Amino acid sequence: MERNGIVMRAMKMLHDLDRLLDASLDGFFKKPFHLEQQSAWIGHVPFLQWLLSSISPKVFVELGTHTGVSYFAACERIIEENMACKCFAIDTWEGDAHLGRYGEAAYETVSAINAEKFAAFSYLLRMTFDAALSKFDSGSIDLLHIDGTHTYEAVRHDFETWLPKLSPSAVVLFHDIHAQLPGFGVHQLWAELKTQYRTFEFEHCYGLGVLLIGNEIPAGLDPLFCSGEARHRTIAERFAFLGERWRHEVKRTAEREHLEGKIEKLNAEALSQKAEISDLKQKLKKEISDLQKKLKKQEAQAADKLELQAKTQNRKIAVLRQGYNRRREFLDLLFRQMGNGVREANPESQLPNMILPLWILGNADEFDIDWYEQNYPETSSRHPIVHYFEEGAKKLYNPSQRFNTKYYVETYREVGQLGMNPLVHFILFGRQRGFSPVPKVPNAPEAAPVPIS
Ligand SMILES: C[S@@+](CC[C@H](N)C(=O)[O-])C[C@H]1O[C@@H](n2cnc3c(N)ncnc32)[C@H](O)[C@@H]1O
Repeated sequence: MERNGIVMRAMKMLHDLDRLLDASLDGFFKKPFHLEQQSAWIGHVPFLQWLLSSISPKVFVELGTHTGVSYFAACERIIEENMACKCFAIDTWEGDAHLGRYGEAAYETVSAINAEKFAAFSYLLRMTFDAALSKFDSGSIDLLHIDGTHTYEAVRHDFETWLPKLSPSAVVLFHDIHAQLPGFGVHQLWAELKTQYRTFEFEHCYGLGVLLIGNEIPAGLDPLFCSGEARHRTIAERFAFLGERWRHEVKRTAEREHLEGKIEKLNAEALSQKAEISDLKQKLKKEISDLQKKLKKQEAQAADKLELQAKTQNRKIAVLRQGYNRRREFLDLLFRQMGNGVREANPESQLPNMILPLWILGNADEFDIDWYEQNYPETSSRHPIVHYFEEGAKKLYNPSQRFNTKYYVETYREVGQLGMNPLVHFILFGRQRGFSPVPKVPNAPEAAPVPIS
């Protein structure tokens, strides 16, 4: 008993799956080849495909095609089911009051797709709906989709002008019957038509109205028009569920493409930044190397300068030392002479009177014995200090570059009045009183050693 129950349940489940695999449901699950994010029609594609299979129209006309989402979904189904149906897409492909004006790209794309896939049975009529009317015989259209301008007046005009062209069992589709948008009046017309015709409606994706022209319900549309309210709701909800799927997929694809675009842009930016960084690195490397070279050069120059300064300093020290030594020698000589009792040996000698000034000159840094010898070579018979004391000062000779005799005696007249040797005067009095040993004017030409007349 129990076993039988299990077998029965399994068979029922298999039977349910068989229904799911029914070829007539293919249209519900197959992804339409042409989906455009900007079309609000995407959500109705599964129903349109089912409708075509159900009524097999001989002539399908669409008023308002734009990018072709609804139109190509119909064409795709017609090919798949190998139907003998002629399709006509009528549109100016210029846009309207609600969509705004758009460019040529939409028509070019639609035209290319049509030529490639559906040229055998599908025709694009680029003109106004009114202008296309004359191309159709009365009572010739089995399925009409009205999706042009959505004002009440426009949609009413489209319905009324195309009504005579519809076959007695024609089906008319109205998009946007639930669009409550500024200027949209399809909902108003739909409310009126509902009272005059047999209708079925979907609420999702701004709503789609299905209207039967004749009193007879075409075979295949019974589920839509003959079942009760609850079944109608379920049918509408399930088609909405199927349609929403494509809407989400298109949205996801658009988001993915947007993100991919962003990633591509970021990658390009990163690449260009990488190149910039590497460029900067190169520049920096070069700048560092240039700076290092410059630094090395400056260090070498500074070292040379220091060496030169040290050499100059050493030379100066050597010169000073030599001058000092020579003055020391002179002072030793002077002491020896004094020790030898010059006066006792030669009562006429002036040396004792000269001892003090000579001793002062011998200690003076302003006396450069070498310099004096080189500049006044004719004095070689006497010691330079003695010569300067006895004769050189009167001739305005200088004891060194550090003392200008002419300048000193001319500037400080008391030196002449006291009859003192100018350098001795400077050492004893001048220095303390702030007298200058050389002209104060910077870069003044050195006074020439002019003898006193
Ligand atoms: C909402 S779109 C069509 C959407 C399309 N069915 C889809 O699946 O996306 C409306 C189109 O109707 C066209 N249109 C509006 N009024 C028209 C008229 N009187 N004559 C010709 N084309 C018209 C516009 O150019 C526009 O491309």
